[in-house]
Amino acid sequence: MSDLISQIHQDHLNMARILKLINSEIEALAAEEPRNLEILDDAMRYMINFADKIHHAKEDIMLSRLREVAPETREMIEDIFAEHQEIFKKGTEFQELVRAVEFGDFVLRDKIVAKGTDYVNTLYAHMSKEEENLLKRAREVLTDEDFAELDLNHGPEVDPLFGEKIQKEYKDLYTYIVDQYGDDWRHPAHRVV
Ligand SMILES: [Fe+2]
Ligand SMILES: [Fe+2]
Repeated sequence: MSDLISQIHQDHLNMARILKLINSEIEALAAEEPRNLEILDDAMRYMINFADKIHHAKEDIMLSRLREVAPETREMIEDIFAEHQEIFKKGTEFQELVRAVEFGDFVLRDKIVAKGTDYVNTLYAHMSKEEENLLKRAREVLTDEDFAELDLNHGPEVDPLFGEKIQKEYKDLYTYIVDQYGDDWRHPAHRVV
């Protein structure tokens, strides 16, 4: 399989892990149970800085090529590009609410729960559409030559949380998820830099 497709697929698995964590923090908020706003803020920082900026940039490269080679995908790919903007906006707005609560501002619980739930559901639906339709189609129609060129264009994987090198700014989030979800979430060769 191409490097690029493998990375996109692995990113989706990792993003689903973070969405699970975000969802459980939202449920705790909704139930007025203890919740960890710093971790929720870190999780959203990862989603905005990695998923929105790096993961979606990789997809944009691959989907632009797919759109040329398989014109029947054009409409869906244009929807996906629009959703990338929408997800960034929803994620940023949700993170702003999380930070407001963290800094002691009054935010209606229903508002933050609704915003967070909408963000999580939108991103799950988006990733399913990509996995079930576009990645599948890309594997069918893109050639080894296409992938060789695309792999050159997008560069190496740089996941700052689930990659080999964990960036210091994600250390607390990393420790939290390994504590919560166990060693399955640990990169086999991880180290904090
Ligand atoms: Fe996407
Ligand atoms: Fe994606």
